[in-house]
Amino acid sequence: YFKGVIFDLDGVITDTAEYHYQAWKRLAEKLGIPFDRKFNEKLKGVSRMESLNIILSRSNKSYTQEEKERLAEEKNADYKELIAKITPDDLLPGAGEVLESLKKHGYKLALASASKNASFVIKKLKVEHYFDYIVDAATIKNSKPHPEIFLTAAKGLGLAPEYCIGVEDAQAGIEAIKRAGMFAVGVGSSTLKGADVMINDLRDFDIEQYQTMVKR
Ligand code: G6P
Ligand code: MG
Repeated sequence: YFKGVIFDLDGVITDTAEYHYQAWKRLAEKLGIPFDRKFNEKLKGVSRMESLNIILSRSNKSYTQEEKERLAEEKNADYKELIAKITPDDLLPGAGEVLESLKKHGYKLALASASKNASFVIKKLKVEHYFDYIVDAATIKNSKPHPEIFLTAAKGLGLAPEYCIGVEDAQAGIEAIKRAGMFAVGVGSSTLKGADVMINDLRDFDIEQYQTMVKR
């Protein structure tokens, strides 16, 4: 039944979600805006500018578009410094094995990350060759939880959405997968609403089990 698997990147394949957190925290603190891990959950899966707007909504100062662009650029510069040192050792547990095994069994694989740095990170991790299709975040108009990025990935694989499994660590991402009409695998230690199944990390990814769970 399922023929393709579409992965989020940050927090699923590698722990760049942590680097996004650190870079945003640094910026928020500089601006005197309170920032913690709980608030950071709202930013997962959300584009750079939208994330900044969410952070700035906690400030009583208003910012011009030009100032916002400068702040987003500043966060990205910090983030890029953090990801420059990524190596294949930074793959999260099970990630390399899952990609290898799915590929070997003939599944089509895609990457659906909202990050404009995704292809740089995928290259540093040396897993680029596993992906049949990588969505270019710059071409996506609607951020997760809108389903656009997952629908674009399915199209890129030449598969109808119902034949695809989406894998996500963010609440907005799970919602996007479900709205795209796909089976949703949630990754992480806290429950994600709407996920068809939750796993701690990709070591527990079990496609044979998901094949038996399809609602026909
Ligand atoms: C992913 C991450 C977000 C990040 C977004 C944009 O969705 O989960 O935390 O803000 O990508 O990333 P970028 O690298 O383009 O700033
Ligand atoms: Mg993520």
